[in-house]
Amino acid sequence: AKVTFIEASGKQHEVTAQEGQSVMQVAMDNLVPGIVAECGGFANCATCHGYVDDAWLKKIPPPDAAEEGMIECAFHVQPNSRLTCQIKVTPALDGLVVRLPVSQT
Ligand code: FES
Repeated sequence: AKVTFIEASGKQHEVTAQEGQSVMQVAMDNLVPGIVAECGGFANCATCHGYVDDAWLKKIPPPDAAEEGMIECAFHVQPNSRLTCQIKVTPALDGLVVRLPVSQT
C-alpha cells in the first residue's frame, strides 16, 4: 500500500508500506522526519502522532482507551489526531494520507 506523509512544511513523502506494519513503522523505515516514536509503538509516548484525513479516519478502527488517553498528552492535537503506531496498514488504506504536526514536543 502507498502511504503519503506530509510534513508541517508541506513536504511530501510517498512511501510503500507492507500490510501489517504500523503507520509509525512505515515512517521510521523510510526516515520520514516528524515521527519520533519514543516508546517504540506501545501507545505510551504520543510522539508518533499525526493527523488522518477524514476520508481515511472512517476506514481505521477508532482509538482504544489507551490511545485516546495518550493523545491527550500529545502536542498540537487536532480532532483528527491519531497515534500512528496504533494504525495498521491494510489494503483498504492504500493511498492513506497522514499529515504531521509542526513538532512532537
Ligand atoms: Fe509511542 Fe506511538 S510510538 S505512542
